[in-house]
Amino acid sequence: MSNNLPAVSIEAVTSGLASAGYIASPQIATAVYLAERIEKPILVEGPAGVGKTELAKALAAWRGLKMIRMQCYEGLDEAKALYEWKYAKQLLYTQILKDKLGEVLGGAETLSAALDRLHDFGDVFFSKEFVEPRPLLQALEQAKGCVLLVDEIDKSDAEFESLLLEILSDYQISIPELGTVAALVKPTVILTSNGERDLSDALKRRCLHLHIGFPEQKLEERIVESRVPGISQSLRGQIVGFINQVRALDLKKLPSVSETIDWARVLVLLQSSELDHETVKETLNVLLKYEADIETAMPQVTSFVAKAGRQGVFG
Ligand SMILES: Nc1ncnc2c1ncn2[C@@H]1O[C@H](COP(=O)(O)OP(=O)(O)O)[C@@H](O)[C@H]1O
Ligand SMILES: [Mg+2]
Repeated sequence: MSNNLPAVSIEAVTSGLASAGYIASPQIATAVYLAERIEKPILVEGPAGVGKTELAKALAAWRGLKMIRMQCYEGLDEAKALYEWKYAKQLLYTQILKDKLGEVLGGAETLSAALDRLHDFGDVFFSKEFVEPRPLLQALEQAKGCVLLVDEIDKSDAEFESLLLEILSDYQISIPELGTVAALVKPTVILTSNGERDLSDALKRRCLHLHIGFPEQKLEERIVESRVPGISQSLRGQIVGFINQVRALDLKKLPSVSETIDWARVLVLLQSSELDHETVKETLNVLLKYEADIETAMPQVTSFVAKAGRQGVFG
């Protein structure tokens, strides 16, 4: 499907996202359904690697829409997010104008008359022609609409949020020299945050809130099935069963869905058909990114594998 009409049901969202390889929990599908219906942005929060960014990509792919990504970082400002004046072009035009200055100012009787004429040119310099649109403005200018992903907003400074408020509530941007630019078609906006800092109430108020945590076991198995084609059902079950036990440990960084997928790919590559504790120990570094975490998990491997094996058979 690729049209701009909102989905008719939550089930339609689930299957639409699945057609783009994204396995959505009922909460995710409901949030997307509602966001389209009431034309509100979704603020997705959750740990790294649980599918926040991918949700925007899958939504765009399913809808046949362009995805415009605004990657946030410390120091991100208006000029990088909204628009910038094309200084080089303005400069070039100044040069040309300089050559023509005699003609332009010719006949101006007084200094103030000459200044008035120059002011008219000032307006030319601050016209649409000299605006370089950045992601947020680009998103409003898409004739077919788009999915606007404002990724990792918690990495930007708090002031950046206030820049977003006008877009999030009115789908428009005010450019002092030009006036208001309104969206041709309202973009579907997805903001993501890893929760590194609290976001402002004003921002939260404008968004539907969606928390994505680690998926429950059956859902994660389906995610692995979607991302690692050819993996057997039993290995899939054992991998997810093992990882869920690891997630109960007290670790610096718990393995996320992205680690589950990476590990599943590695095990398929190593032609494992079942989890065995030797292979698990050798590949634990795919799952855990800190030496201290590997040391914590290592003594548990044998018992976790045994339990995951039983789950794989009977689960
Ligand atoms: N529900 C899901 N369905 C399919 N793939 C998923 C899902 N959740 C996560 N993934 C995969 O996990 C990886 C990490 O997802 P990503 O969106 O980058 O995480 P985040 O933005 O939350 O840090 C990606 O490769 C993504 O395709
Ligand atoms: Mg991300």
